[in-house]
Amino acid sequence: MAATARAVVGHDVGAETVAFGHDPEVDGPGMKNEMLVFSGSANPALAREIASHLGMRLGGALVSTFKNEETRVRIEENVRGVDVFVVQSTCSPVDHHIMELLLMIDALRRASARRVTAVIPYYGYAKQEKKSAGREPISAKLVANLIRTAGADRIVAIDLHAPAIEGFFDIPVDHLRANPIMAQYIESRYRDRELAIVSPDSGGVARANDFRLRVGGHLAIVAKQRPQPDVAEVLEMVGDVRGRTAVIVDDMISTGGTLIEAADMLRSRGAVDVIACATHGILAGNAVEIIERSCISRVVTTDTIPLGAGVHSSKIVQVSMAPLLAEAIRRIHHHISVSALFT
Ligand code: R5P
Repeated sequence: MAATARAVVGHDVGAETVAFGHDPEVDGPGMKNEMLVFSGSANPALAREIASHLGMRLGGALVSTFKNEETRVRIEENVRGVDVFVVQSTCSPVDHHIMELLLMIDALRRASARRVTAVIPYYGYAKQEKKSAGREPISAKLVANLIRTAGADRIVAIDLHAPAIEGFFDIPVDHLRANPIMAQYIESRYRDRELAIVSPDSGGVARANDFRLRVGGHLAIVAKQRPQPDVAEVLEMVGDVRGRTAVIVDDMISTGGTLIEAADMLRSRGAVDVIACATHGILAGNAVEIIERSCISRVVTTDTIPLGAGVHSSKIVQVSMAPLLAEAIRRIHHHISVSALFT
């Protein structure tokens, strides 16, 4: 069967599985303690950085597409008895990346991996976590079912759009947060400013307040409605932002509409500067362009989703989640608590 190469991640066929950090006290004498990190094609740069923080290479896998457009996957090394982690953000093209993830999990299961953890820095379909009208699917639940059915034993994710998504999986979910890292960024660069930390909608108040507890300042909340999908309309806001630098804290930027609407409201209420921190930079459509044109001076996002090729922005900066994900993987592998990373 002919296949067109789409992405080949990791190393060549035949590489030996590396033994990683065997600790007889944790693992018991003689117990196999091998782990491997594999990557789908969604974000190989992040996967490589994670592997490098762990002091290892990526596992070898062929991830490509047949001429008939079906996804083709082959694991290119022995994973029998290995503790395996598959890094794959289900970002655009969302359905394709989900399929890659499912096939990689299936291949690893059938190749007798001891445990398969799906590391999904950005979980697509998360905004469809409930029915907002009759006769709609609950897509985030269906995707969770698919991942479980494919054979994942455990999930690692960052800032799931709604905490309820954790409960869609009947397997352990380590739900990491980007707040500590993004708050550190703001702290280190804007500590001399009077800040107001802003939730751009009622659903994000807990996230924004957590951020405020880390960097200080006032809390403000914007009330938003969506007259139609992908359109954000700001209604009102509570909180005093006059004379302050407003920091909008959100889980994602999709069209950018939420950010821009909130930013305009904040400036009209006297904020002297507006900055945004959002974990997942989806940046759909012309989001980058409208951010560039907006009154927002800086947008801090993370590398859960790679910045599209050719995206040039003077305002958008990415902070890396690789050290956090690597540490979570290290702890999971050694059966050490991961919850300390949430705080
Ligand atoms: C909304 O519930 C989310 O937290 C984000 O505010 C939203 O998804 C951003 O979408 P957009 O950039 O399209 O306004």
